[in-house]
Amino acid sequence: MKIGVIGTGYVGLVTAVGLADLGHQVIGTDMVKEKVDEASRGIAHIYEPGLEEILQKNLNQGNLSFTYKLDQAIRESEVLFVCVNTPQREDGSTDMCYVEGVSQQIAENLNGYKLVVEKSTVPIQTSMWIKRTITLNKKNSMDFDVASNPEFLREGSAVSDFLHPDRIIIGVETERAKNTLIEIYKKFEELLLITNIDTAELIKHASNSFLAMKISFINLLSDLCEKTDADVEKVAQGMGLDPRIGAQFLKAGLGYGGSCFPKDIRALTHIGEDMGLNFHLLKEVDRINSERIQKFVEKIKKSLWILKGKKIGVLGLSFKPQTDDIRNAPSIEVIKELLKEGAQLRVYDPQAMENMKEVFPENSPHIIYTKDSYEAAEGVNALIFITEWEEFAELDLKKIRQKMVNPIIVDGRNIFEPQQIRETGFEYYCMGRKSP
Ligand code: UGA
Repeated sequence: MKIGVIGTGYVGLVTAVGLADLGHQVIGTDMVKEKVDEASRGIAHIYEPGLEEILQKNLNQGNLSFTYKLDQAIRESEVLFVCVNTPQREDGSTDMCYVEGVSQQIAENLNGYKLVVEKSTVPIQTSMWIKRTITLNKKNSMDFDVASNPEFLREGSAVSDFLHPDRIIIGVETERAKNTLIEIYKKFEELLLITNIDTAELIKHASNSFLAMKISFINLLSDLCEKTDADVEKVAQGMGLDPRIGAQFLKAGLGYGGSCFPKDIRALTHIGEDMGLNFHLLKEVDRINSERIQKFVEKIKKSLWILKGKKIGVLGLSFKPQTDDIRNAPSIEVIKELLKEGAQLRVYDPQAMENMKEVFPENSPHIIYTKDSYEAAEGVNALIFITEWEEFAELDLKKIRQKMVNPIIVDGRNIFEPQQIRETGFEYYCMGRKSP
């Protein structure tokens, strides 16, 4: 099947590459020429394990190409996956201008039947707006359908999530659209859930909001654990053993970041309130999450008292491990707070340093980017952990200790076993477990 993928951001690039790998003829398009040029040369503009390998494989096999000419991609494709970004506006609602712009372009280039599939995370009833926009702007009597096929891939495991999904949600309103999508996802037939379009759109927002709610719930309990003798890691383990609850997304710490959860939960709240419903539950989830930064900074202050002039090593900048993405990363807020207090920072991340240099430039006198964790620990009064990269759990702690002026660790992700690390001679502060 000839498929056009509009937008080669996170979702779009992985979708284009993934659909090509399923055996379809895919043309990816983006208005940013550099992204198109790079993708055409087999270079992914994001760090994602395995992505470049399968990008190059499918380019070489000739079933994947890229263009910045949207009209060409539309005209050459029978099916169009819309994967453009849907930024958040000041009031929490979603800015749909790119989706509208693409819909107008589709209308203008409608040279035969097309199935327009919305894949970006969008507010409920977006497909209805796409349909209306195409209908109002098309210049001929060509037929088209709209559908919703939300994406559930996680950054850091996006390729594997695409190729080994646990469900594929398809929201359709015609048999033709349904059969086309069944054909596209033939390999995953038993994983398909077919619904109407509004339902499919809501499943996506609901899933992300529910997961965010789990995280805020455990973080709320984490604060209670700190006031008592309970250990949040064990509480989560005990709860997770109940299959009705499940063990995943019960990791307490600095809270959720990234380009999805913070935005999606606000968007769903906004939609609910727009429809006259009380969505305070989700507002609380958001509030609890926002408070995590301050609670973490308080721990750092508790360990060092005055931060002015103190040297602090900062490990982990990406919003989660296995990605170079720093959008809504807790590290940005933590670093801002520490700099405001006058601390001197030595920072390290396995992948996200280049992106972070755009937020906190390299030549600033208060922030030094180091080549590894050991260099970040050199001469510091405390070492703080913000992202749980696997390599941090494997650090030689004796070597780290020798490099530090004061053996203090403040761990925002509970990477270490408290007893073990304290035996190595560290004063260890963590989340939801006994700290000094
Ligand atoms: C999330 C969803 O998991 C995907 O299913 C969805 O497709 C994607 O959003 C999207 O809408 O595009 P992602 O944002 O890549 O994926 O990352 P997650 O692995 O879900 O983590 C989100 C945040 O929650 C991270 O900051 C992570 O550190 C935090 N988190 C996660 C916790 O604080 N505790 C946990 O137990 C789990």
